[in-house]
Amino acid sequence: MIGAMREVIVAANWKMHTTPADAGELARTIAARTRVAGVVRVICPPYVSLAAVRDALAEDDPDVAVGAQNVHHELQGAYTGEIAAPMLAGLATWVIVGHSERRRDAGETDDLIGRKLGRAIDAGLRPILCVGEHLEDREARRQDAVVDAQLRGAFGALGALEGGDPAAIRAAGLVIAYEPVWAIGTGRNASGADATAMAGAIRSTLADLGHGPAADDIPILYGGSVTSVNIGEFFAEPAIDGALVGGASLKPDEMAGIVARAGVTAAARGAAG
Ligand code: PGA
Repeated sequence: MIGAMREVIVAANWKMHTTPADAGELARTIAARTRVAGVVRVICPPYVSLAAVRDALAEDDPDVAVGAQNVHHELQGAYTGEIAAPMLAGLATWVIVGHSERRRDAGETDDLIGRKLGRAIDAGLRPILCVGEHLEDREARRQDAVVDAQLRGAFGALGALEGGDPAAIRAAGLVIAYEPVWAIGTGRNASGADATAMAGAIRSTLADLGHGPAADDIPILYGGSVTSVNIGEFFAEPAIDGALVGGASLKPDEMAGIVARAGVTAAARGAAG
């Protein structure tokens, strides 16, 4: 059965919200409301709140992982205001790479994103690589081509073998988040069928890049206006392994609902696997 053994993951992207003074408490509340067997939970606060969230979770719920929202593509140097992957040691174990807001606001290219991905993998951070098309791409029905190019661009920059070393990528626990730009923060989510079609396109690009059958093992999340109300539509799709949640991830009630639904899928996969 497709996806029978893949992990079920809910990742919270807090974006530019929370301060070191309030982030720990919010993380603690969300952790307490989302203790559901079989679901991998990740909270990605702003850099400055990583330590507060780490400390709060270490005390209360070490099963919740902490992630950064970005990482620099160089190891050190004259890059004012930036954070390199080795600096995240002890603060985060996951990292989001290539979010569309950074592609938009920080001019991140696929090549740069690939280099970030490489730094994350070298530093032992578990990466969530974000891909997704703009509305005009979807209207022109070129969403598959856009995401294919994003993946090839990023993996091409990984060096080693063409498209990155599949064994290293697999060992790093790479997760891909399909986030259509038109669905992010807009209240307009894609459909479960759209997400499944794109997951198929992503896995076929990965297979083509040399990941072969292992491409089927890479978890794919959906992101874009996920809520406790629409999450069921995505978890009804065997090709989708979880969600990257923005706005709703700041609301404990919403996170409780989303992770509870994730738990249903995790239990079904556990039983099937
Ligand atoms: P949203 O953001 O849930 O607020 O649409 C998702 C994301 O950008 O990761």
